[in-house]
Amino acid sequence: MAEVCLVVDDAMSVAPDAEVHQYFLSCGGSAANFACCGSALGMNVELMSQMGDDSVTPMLSADLSDFGVGVRFVRRHSGPNSVCVIVIGEDGERRFMSHRRPETAEEQHGPENFDGFDWVHVSGFVFQREGSAQRAWRIIERARANGITISLDPSPLMAPYVKNVNPALLANVDYLFPNAFEAAALTGLTDPDRAAERLLDMGVPLVALTRGADGVLLRGPNLDQQLPAAPQPRVQDSTGAGDAFAAGFVAATRQGADPVDAARTGTLAAAAIIARVGGHSGAVDLQGR
Ligand SMILES: Nc1ncnc2c1ncn2[C@@H]1O[C@H](COP(=O)(O)OP(=O)(O)OP(=O)(O)O)[C@@H](O)[C@H]1O
Ligand SMILES: [Mg+2]
Repeated sequence: MAEVCLVVDDAMSVAPDAEVHQYFLSCGGSAANFACCGSALGMNVELMSQMGDDSVTPMLSADLSDFGVGVRFVRRHSGPNSVCVIVIGEDGERRFMSHRRPETAEEQHGPENFDGFDWVHVSGFVFQREGSAQRAWRIIERARANGITISLDPSPLMAPYVKNVNPALLANVDYLFPNAFEAAALTGLTDPDRAAERLLDMGVPLVALTRGADGVLLRGPNLDQQLPAAPQPRVQDSTGAGDAFAAGFVAATRQGADPVDAARTGTLAAAAIIARVGGHSGAVDLQGR
């Protein structure tokens, strides 16, 4: 997804014309954010996604290539890419205006077997649409059958899918990385501790519930720990913080870290991402770490 970030006085103003003090054109999208951060942290990542055919395609393509993200499973289609306009006010208030490409009927893509892979990370946005939800669920089932570890980063609007279509989803992942809003949407509980507890009851083995500047709540059968966020005095744009956290957590876990150390690595990765405008522009600062 391409991001157009506009800094204005008042993000919520509906004036017919508004002065833009700064603008940034960047690359984002939850799955691409995870992929670029993960690759920068040394993982060998293949992105499973789609790319359109318009004037931002070269930028999106070059970005994945710069971070060394594999694109074997990125399907090209004719038509526009997904774009998000992010309007940021002086007070930090933001307004997102997203164009997500209309869903089309597509055949299954992704690896037939999982040779060479040991982890599948799923961005919850795929569960906001019927076709992509079905495809993602089939990939999860196949990955599970192949003994692959699965992590899921929920999206704000995927709760109806879990509730009405596929209550078994959460019990079929190994790690869940909700933010506080998503945990509340999935459980109906606004208290983060109680929401995390309920997610364990729903079958999730390990929950890392991210709470923005307040850090992370880690819950598992024998785990109940609160970690602070890594200090970041230069917060520019928190978009992508959760994706970076997930990438750091997964990278560290694959290297043998326990959940607490993995979460710590996640908060460090997130701190790097929020220091730059863009969903994963800060991933350059993760390279070689
Ligand atoms: N303002 C902040 N200061 C320091 N750390 C932060 C801040 N915001 C986020 N983080 C770090 O990033 C992690 C994930 O943030 P958050 O809970 O906002 O995720 P998220 O809502 O999923 O983000 P996104 O959807 O934009 O990727 C937090 O646990 C924390 O470590
Ligand atoms: Mg998130």
